[in-house]
Amino acid sequence: MNRSINRRDFVAAGSVIACGLGVSQVSASHCAEEERKTSIPVQEGEKIQLLTPQTEGGMPFFEALAKRKTTRVFKREMPDLQTLSNLLWAAAGINRPDGRRTAPTALNSQEIFIFVILPNGVYCYQPAENSLLRCAEGNFQNLAGNQNYAKEVPVTFVYVADLNRSNCSPETQESYARVDCGFIGQNVYLFAAAAGLASVFRGSIDHKALAKLFKLGEKQMVLYAQSIGYPDEEKVQAAPSMLKLK
Ligand SMILES: Cc1cc2nc3c(=O)[nH]c(=O)nc-3n(C[C@H](O)[C@H](O)[C@H](O)COP(=O)(O)O)c2cc1C
Repeated sequence: MNRSINRRDFVAAGSVIACGLGVSQVSASHCAEEERKTSIPVQEGEKIQLLTPQTEGGMPFFEALAKRKTTRVFKREMPDLQTLSNLLWAAAGINRPDGRRTAPTALNSQEIFIFVILPNGVYCYQPAENSLLRCAEGNFQNLAGNQNYAKEVPVTFVYVADLNRSNCSPETQESYARVDCGFIGQNVYLFAAAAGLASVFRGSIDHKALAKLFKLGEKQMVLYAQSIGYPDEEKVQAAPSMLKLK
């Protein structure tokens, strides 16, 4: 399946089932299992089964590097499921048989969890299942960021560190987590460049409100967010002169 899903579809449907995303009901026991595995509290919800990521071809690496940039003007158009699947895999998917990821983590602690705010709900990326597990239903885009543009972007990743996953000192854990998060952010930037998407990595978020939304526990912290969508080319053209006025 490779269809485009627009924002209106998502919001109007109130459920990704109606968008034909291949959602399946997840049982309470399955959720409990997910919860143990991830150590991030995810509630009973629905699952979006992601598509097998396309891991070959694409834009030449140096071209993607040349195009990597921050963009803050987005269309509301939702990327299709294949693009979303590729994006999550590029961000922090499993790329080796031993379960290691596309982004490195100190001590291979894999402590960064990606919460995904979509127009119809909030999900937690489950790399081993190649799925998104819903942890909150409804539109929470108003919590996606403090800057206005961030509230209308169709896809927001919120990076959450689970510091229970290593035994280092709290200072070391946090510094490792912020670096690990940066690697994921750069993977997303490069994927966005290669796929014709726009992205902005953001520290300007309401950490407390997001932690409450995700029902985070002790030593689990919201670090950063990253908006991903299609660039609004007309406004992008206008943006440089706007910036010069600053
Ligand atoms: C740790 C970090 C936090 C950032 N926070 C924000 C933010 O809150 N809002 C924003 O619009 N951009 C944010 N940015 C994006 C930077 O402003 C952007 O990367 C910088 O202007 C350089 O532009 P470039 O990414 O196109 O090279 C952040 C970037 C980093 C690395």
